[in-house]
Amino acid sequence: MDHLSSIVVDQIDALLQDEHNPITNLSNAAALINDSFSHINWAGFYLYNPNSSELDLGPFQGKVACMHIKPGSGVVGTSFDKAEAIIVPDVHAFAGHIACDAASNSEIVIPVTVEGQTIAILDIDSPELDRFNDEDREILTAFATQLAKHLDVKALTTLY
Ligand code: SME
Repeated sequence: MDHLSSIVVDQIDALLQDEHNPITNLSNAAALINDSFSHINWAGFYLYNPNSSELDLGPFQGKVACMHIKPGSGVVGTSFDKAEAIIVPDVHAFAGHIACDAASNSEIVIPVTVEGQTIAILDIDSPELDRFNDEDREILTAFATQLAKHLDVKALTTLY
């Protein structure tokens, strides 16, 4: 585990304390993840759009990425359907994996849940095989829980 990664849960809470714009908060959340985890090449959010029933690309750090993912598709859509975190040690071995950055070799996805609804998926890619472990999943799940407390879902839905 990275030393920096364990403190992101406290950091996100402090960072977003007085900000209510969900795009602002998701943007800084992606930047904080990107700065705190080593050996990653993409970190960001897919946001569930209830009008199209797809996951739309949200704030992120990294290369240009796929803009829409259907529930059940790829790692992100599978996490959304199951409402659970998934660690993929080798993306090339995951049937249906959607390749956005050819450099990615492993991936972790974490649902962001508000009032029992998955409103977004936090997605992190690494160029290393087997980059993410159970400790990362625990930290990132706690991170997603803290972040969710600072997300104005009504404001988000006005975007769709
Ligand atoms: N690999 C993901 C798509 C998103 S990119 O990694 C940023 C997937 O299979 O759903």
